[in-house]
Amino acid sequence: MRWPNGPAGLCFGGDWNPEQWPEPVWHEDVALMRQAGVNLVSVGVFAWSWLEPEPGRYTFDWLDRALDLLHRAGIGANLATPTAAPPPWFALAHPDALPVTAEGVRLSHGSRDTYCAAAPAYRAAARRIAAALAGRYAGHPALAMWHVHNEYGSWCHCDHVAGAFRAWLRRRYPDLAGLNAAWGTAFWSQRYSAWEQVLPPRATQYLPNPHQALDFRRFWSDELLAAFREQRDLLRAAAPEVPVTTNFAFGDWVPVDHRQWAGEVDLVAVDGYPAGSGIEAEQQTAFLADLARHWAGGAPWLLMEQSPGTLGDRGAQVAKPPGRMARLAVSSLARGSRGAMFFQWRASAAGAEQFHSGLVPHAGPASRIFAEVRELGGLLPRLAEVDAGAVSAEVAIGWDAPSWWALRQPQLPADRLDYLGALARAHRTLWLAQVTADFADLSGDLSGYRLVLVPSHYLAGDRVAGAVERYVAGGGQLVVWYFSGVADRTGRVRLGGYPGAFREVLGVWAEEFHPLPPDVTVPLSDGSRGTRWSEHLHLAGAEPVSRYAGGELAGRPAVTRHRYQAGLAWYVSTELDQTAYPGLVGAALAAAGVRPGGLPPGVEVVRRRAAGRGWTFLLNHTAEPVRVPGAGYELVSGARVDRELALPPGGFAVLRTGREPE
Ligand code: GLA
Repeated sequence: MRWPNGPAGLCFGGDWNPEQWPEPVWHEDVALMRQAGVNLVSVGVFAWSWLEPEPGRYTFDWLDRALDLLHRAGIGANLATPTAAPPPWFALAHPDALPVTAEGVRLSHGSRDTYCAAAPAYRAAARRIAAALAGRYAGHPALAMWHVHNEYGSWCHCDHVAGAFRAWLRRRYPDLAGLNAAWGTAFWSQRYSAWEQVLPPRATQYLPNPHQALDFRRFWSDELLAAFREQRDLLRAAAPEVPVTTNFAFGDWVPVDHRQWAGEVDLVAVDGYPAGSGIEAEQQTAFLADLARHWAGGAPWLLMEQSPGTLGDRGAQVAKPPGRMARLAVSSLARGSRGAMFFQWRASAAGAEQFHSGLVPHAGPASRIFAEVRELGGLLPRLAEVDAGAVSAEVAIGWDAPSWWALRQPQLPADRLDYLGALARAHRTLWLAQVTADFADLSGDLSGYRLVLVPSHYLAGDRVAGAVERYVAGGGQLVVWYFSGVADRTGRVRLGGYPGAFREVLGVWAEEFHPLPPDVTVPLSDGSRGTRWSEHLHLAGAEPVSRYAGGELAGRPAVTRHRYQAGLAWYVSTELDQTAYPGLVGAALAAAGVRPGGLPPGVEVVRRRAAGRGWTFLLNHTAEPVRVPGAGYELVSGARVDRELALPPGGFAVLRTGREPE
């Protein structure tokens, strides 16, 4: 990405909300930002009612002064369009643009994100305020990047949405017969005889139609994307040199297909809020960072928001102990982030998120947190050169947002099928083995990977089936877990035995699913136990690795391996336990020739490479000092390392090998 007015090194900063503070505080803020080495702040994210207090009357003077102040301090503005929080006047003037839940309840203003993204009045108002900002600030010297909206992800089921959904469906299906076939409307008398009868999936008596629900999520991702594009295009027209982004949120409530959206932004930006304060925070940070890199197609991306001082854990905001803020930020840098941005600069004194942590906490700058902020700001310039290196991964995990969405539906053979959980388990197992993973789209070229892991890839069309077949035929190693390849892209079951799309390459077929209730396990022939799921599996070329050793499936294969042309494909028909799961992944890694890190447990390692040089990130997440082998120039301490590196508890290091940067 060309970024003429971007920060010189890695981005460092956060959301700055001057509208929440009297002006003298802005001056203190900017002085503190300079002390801390901040070079980019997101401004105006929720400032609509301060920018347009009444329809068509703009009050830009305060923002002029705020941006001038930033510019004088050499700090770039990631200037937001405020369209995630329409003012109260908008809601009262356009009640039809307030969102309606699936149950038919129309929401009222009083929070943020309370609009219908398909309502013409909302779209027009959003374009107007974006155009006004573009007109005013396109040439402002502080403008580094446009930040459109905030975390696209609000929902609506109103009549505007119904109309837009029908228009989308008419583009997707040649005619109503095509829609009726794809949605299986022969079941329960749902056959549509006119387009006007088709609705968004609103609350209904019993199980909804899963194909309709899946298409609605696809449609809504596209509809939100259309809203984003309208703003992006007018910002781009006003300032062609200024990159445009939006911050991606990640969670079940987010209907956005990030991978598809990534092609529409100049820089992929994500917000990362792990759930949990134990080591799972590090693991989730790595998971999201690796996903973000996938969405970005391997290019640098930006961690746009993370919480400075706390981690949410079962209802409590648990304080990050000293050093953890920097370590978590560096873990994202290791995995391709072009900097470390936070929400937010100064903790708010009032409002819905008044107890959310800030880089400047309520206590003020004379605080541990701000001292750590200054330290991180001092460190980042020393790490800037890593931005040139591509993250190196030999293993990939299949990623498919529609499979995730489809597995949220209620008509499946078990409600314990958990897409994100399955991916997180595969990723965590590699993380613990100190093996870096990419995420990958299975319909693409997989030949660069030694091993591809495929958990819960429920939907697989012929393109995915073909690409996976070519990968294994060409010598790739594959592990597929249960409930993958079962249905096509519309969610229609692929007949003739599960896992339909991957049957041939796996050399097995399943006649029946045998899902297991929570308290039931099945013994396996290797002494381990399966949970959650089992299958009545037949061999069709594969050899058994383990078998069911009890219950109705006793003697039948549980885990299999199939030599398919030059490659090897494993199938796992149950949820393996804490021993068998890493054992299986370990065996697949060994067969693929991928070596685990071999470092002390709790150390994270990531490598980045560029022509003639490389960087190894080593992060010690344990409370003990560790020693790891390595040689080169260490960027954090600025010291040369000959043979071995000492990492203090919670410490991290970045070792450069190869030539010095120019
Ligand atoms: C999101 C939003 C921010 C803020 C944070 C709080 O990421 O973008 O505005 O609400 O969450 O964690």
